[in-house]
Amino acid sequence: MAPAAVPLNIKWLPLNSKLKAKSQLQTSSRNIEFERVQLPEKTRNSRVLVLGGTGRVGGSTAIALSNLCPDLRILVAGRNREKGEALVAKLGGNSGFSQVDLNDQDSLQTALQDVDLVVHTAGPFQQAEKCSVLEAAINTKTAYVDVCDDTSYAVRAKSFMSRALAANVPAITTGGIYPGVSNVMAAELVRAAETETEEDKPERLRFSYYTAGTGGAGPTILATSFLLLGEEVIAYSKEIRIPLQYMVFRNLPEVRSAFEILGVPTVSARFGTAPFFWNWGMEAMTNLLPPEFLRDRSKVQMLVELFDPVVRAVDGIAGERVSMRVDLELSSGRSKVGLFSHSKLSISVGIATAAFALAILEGSTQPGVWFPEEAQGLAIEAREVLLQRASQGTFNFVMNRSPWTIETNPKELGLGIYV
Ligand SMILES: NC(=O)c1ccc[n+]([C@@H]2O[C@H](COP(=O)([O-])OP(=O)(O)OC[C@H]3O[C@@H](n4cnc5c(N)ncnc54)[C@H](OP(=O)(O)O)[C@@H]3O)[C@@H](O)[C@H]2O)c1
Repeated sequence: MAPAAVPLNIKWLPLNSKLKAKSQLQTSSRNIEFERVQLPEKTRNSRVLVLGGTGRVGGSTAIALSNLCPDLRILVAGRNREKGEALVAKLGGNSGFSQVDLNDQDSLQTALQDVDLVVHTAGPFQQAEKCSVLEAAINTKTAYVDVCDDTSYAVRAKSFMSRALAANVPAITTGGIYPGVSNVMAAELVRAAETETEEDKPERLRFSYYTAGTGGAGPTILATSFLLLGEEVIAYSKEIRIPLQYMVFRNLPEVRSAFEILGVPTVSARFGTAPFFWNWGMEAMTNLLPPEFLRDRSKVQMLVELFDPVVRAVDGIAGERVSMRVDLELSSGRSKVGLFSHSKLSISVGIATAAFALAILEGSTQPGVWFPEEAQGLAIEAREVLLQRASQGTFNFVMNRSPWTIETNPKELGLGIYV
C-alpha cells in the first residue's frame, strides 16, 4: 500500500482518550488504563514468550501485553523460577513460566517449540558474542523482536536476514522505546517532510534522550550504561562517519540505522540524566578507566555490584521520568520535532515494546530481520498506530511540530493564529 500523503500530526495524546475497551492491571506502582487491541482471528490467542520477563523491561512488556490483549497466552521466561512465578501470579490464568537460559541453545529451542512470538529483553546486548535467541527463533520458525540497544549486536542480527527469509520468520531488532519508538518517530518526521515538498531535503537528525536517575534501571541497564562508555561513539556528519570524544554523545544503533535507512546525511544521539552529578560521574569513568576495562563484561559486573546501592538510593529521590526528542532539520532551514515524555520509564518501555510485538502479530512485519524504520519491519501505514499505542500514558506526545510550538506552549485562537 502507498504511504499516506497527509503529514503525521499527532498532538498530545491524553491517557483515556477515545478508549474503546479498557483494562486495568496493578503495575509496579500505579494503575494504568489501556486501550484494548483486537488482534486478527488467527493470532488472537498467540503464545508469546517474553525472555527476560523476570526483569524490568521484560516484566513491564508482559504486563502491557496482557493489558492490551488479554487473550494472548504469555510465557514469562528467565532463569529464576521464583521471580517468574511471582509475575505469572499477577498476570493471571493465561500465563505461565518457562525456565530458559539463553546461553543454553537446547533449552532455548525447546522453550520456543510451540511459541508464536519471542520478545527478547534478556540483555545486556553489549559485548554479547552470539544472537542465540534470534538463531533459535529462526530454527523454530518463531517470530522475533528484541530491545537491543547495541550497534554491533543489531548489525549481527541483520546478518541473519537470508536465514530469516528462508524460514519465513519476521523479526525486528531494536524494538523498544529508544531505540525503537524513537526510530519510528524519526522515520515519520522524514516521511512527512518528504511528502510535503520534494525540494526541501532532510539534512540533520538529532536524537536527544533524558532519563531521571537511571530510570529505575535493573542491574542489566547499569551494566549496559557502563559497557556503552567503553565504545567508540559514532555519529554521521554530512555522510562522513566521525568518532566523537564527548561523553554526552552515545553510540546507539538508531544513529546508524537512521543514517543508512532514512538517508539523512547528519545524524547523532545524545543522552542526559539527572541529578547532574551522574553525568559528571559517567564522564569521569570514561576518562579514568581504560576502554578495555569498560568492554569486559565480568569487570563491568563488579562495577555494577559496587554502584548498585548508591544508584538505588539516588533513584529513590530522582524518580524515573523519561523524555525523548527527535529533531529533523531540512535544507530550507525549517525544522520539525517529535517529543515523547512519560513519568515512568519502567512502564513506558514495556508499552513501547508491546506495541512492536502487536505490530508483528498483526502482520505488519515481513519475513527477514528489520530495523523499526524499515518499511518491511513496520509497514508505513502501521507506524501511526504503533506510535499511538506506544504513547499511552505519556504526559506529552507530539509529532511533526515546529520547535517553537513545543518550546513556548502557545495557545491556538483558531485559523492558525497563535498567541
Ligand atoms: N531498546 C530500549 O528501549 C531499551 C530500553 C531499556 C532497556 N533496554 C535493554 O533491555 C535489557 C534489559 O534491561 P532490564 O532493565 O530489564 O534488565 P534487568 O531488570 O536486569 O532484567 C534482565 C533480565 O534478563 C534475564 N536474563 C539475564 N541473563 C539471562 C540468561 N542467561 N538467560 C535467561 N535470562 C536471562 C534476567 O532474568 P533471570 O536473572 O531471572 O534469569 C532478567 O530478568 C538491557 O540489555 C537494556 O539495555 C532496551
